[in-house]
Amino acid sequence: MRVLVIGRGGREHAIVWALSKSPKISKLFCAPGNGGIAGLAECVPITELQFEEISTFAKEQAIDLVMVAPDDPLAAGLVDHLESKGIEAFGPRANAAIIEGSKVFMKELLKNYSIPTAAYESFDAYEPALAYLRSQSAPIVIKADGLAAGKGVTVAQTMEEAEAALKDIMVGQVFGKSAGASVVIEEFLTGQEMSLLAFVDGSTVRLMVPSQDHKPVFDNDKGPNTGGMGTYSPLPHIPESIVQEALVNIVQPTADAMVKEGRPFKGVLYAGLILTPNGVKTIEFNARFGDPETQVILPRLKTDLLDIFLAINNGTLADQPIEWSEEAAVCVIVASPGYPGPYPKGLPITGLDQVQDSLVFHAGTAIEDGQIVTNGGRVLGITGLGKDIIEARQKAYADADRIHFDGKHYRTDIAMKALK
Ligand code: AMP
Ligand code: GLY
Repeated sequence: MRVLVIGRGGREHAIVWALSKSPKISKLFCAPGNGGIAGLAECVPITELQFEEISTFAKEQAIDLVMVAPDDPLAAGLVDHLESKGIEAFGPRANAAIIEGSKVFMKELLKNYSIPTAAYESFDAYEPALAYLRSQSAPIVIKADGLAAGKGVTVAQTMEEAEAALKDIMVGQVFGKSAGASVVIEEFLTGQEMSLLAFVDGSTVRLMVPSQDHKPVFDNDKGPNTGGMGTYSPLPHIPESIVQEALVNIVQPTADAMVKEGRPFKGVLYAGLILTPNGVKTIEFNARFGDPETQVILPRLKTDLLDIFLAINNGTLADQPIEWSEEAAVCVIVASPGYPGPYPKGLPITGLDQVQDSLVFHAGTAIEDGQIVTNGGRVLGITGLGKDIIEARQKAYADADRIHFDGKHYRTDIAMKALK
């Protein structure tokens, strides 16, 4: 088969890496890809929202499957576009990807089907939203409705912060007119977070191994939020009964609800969960693999990923064997100086050939005159694998130290929650 992956981050590198092991694939492309993906797939200079260019390329190259990894093209209907041209695609259609694309849709769905989530109100006008907010107390959470590159959520510790966030979203339209046209104002929950991803073919849900992300930029969860500074899997301190509770109370009922709503979800459904004293609750749904969750999940997958994608598209996921390794995986993100604020690009990266034990997934790199250089905020994800979290951490950090570029930084406490 000839397969095209859409996207350019560490997640896409991990997907391409997993697919590159499939004996069924004769040729892999990635659009647009990055400096690391180029070693495994032919990178094509077409970007994620160039739908016509993508379908034309897929026709010309006789592509058998297009795997759409990122949220933007999914929400904008790339899968629908490809299907309308007779091209097979993996990922939810726009009417199902809306579970990530609109927080108001997601919250209403969960409320209507009694699926546990934070209490909330939603608004499509500033004045009533402000009046409601002023009747509440901090801490409180303000969320832009639409996609906002992971930055649309403010966990406000004070009412001033909350009012400023609401104004930025609805009046300042800092995330754009459409993403900020509606907001969700939601109850603040406390507890450990867990990323629970699942393969879903409509009504069959097959959980992946659970993982945990680290969103704030600095150690001990200090500093502004990022796209994710590191992940690990398994979660030895979280009992299997909690994962089962999440499957039975949240993930399966959500897949069933989407079928009932005439929006069957086919693809990867990502539940962002919080383990509160009152049980597991939903923080968000994503319609795709997580980044950097994928960088610890796929290295633990023993089954051919292509077989799973095809089973989902054929509606035979229930019969598809899916095996996971017992190994632990820890991914440390090495970021550009200044990230998540403004950062330089084009810094030469050295030491990649010194890496000993880890998988190096490129997130923001490019090749300039044969030299790998930085090209994004999150630059590399270094995944160590070992018999347990301690060994996997040691390997990931030892290799993160073998790689250099000016001003590189990473968190030093990835996976420590599992070891306390
Ligand atoms: P999201 O973009 O929806 O994943 O939210 C980003 C982060 O904000 C989450 O990973 C949580 O750490 C935090 N968050 C979102 N909603 C809540 C909530 N209701 N209570 C506490 N923290 C939240
Ligand atoms: N790691 C968070 C996300 O992919 O949304």
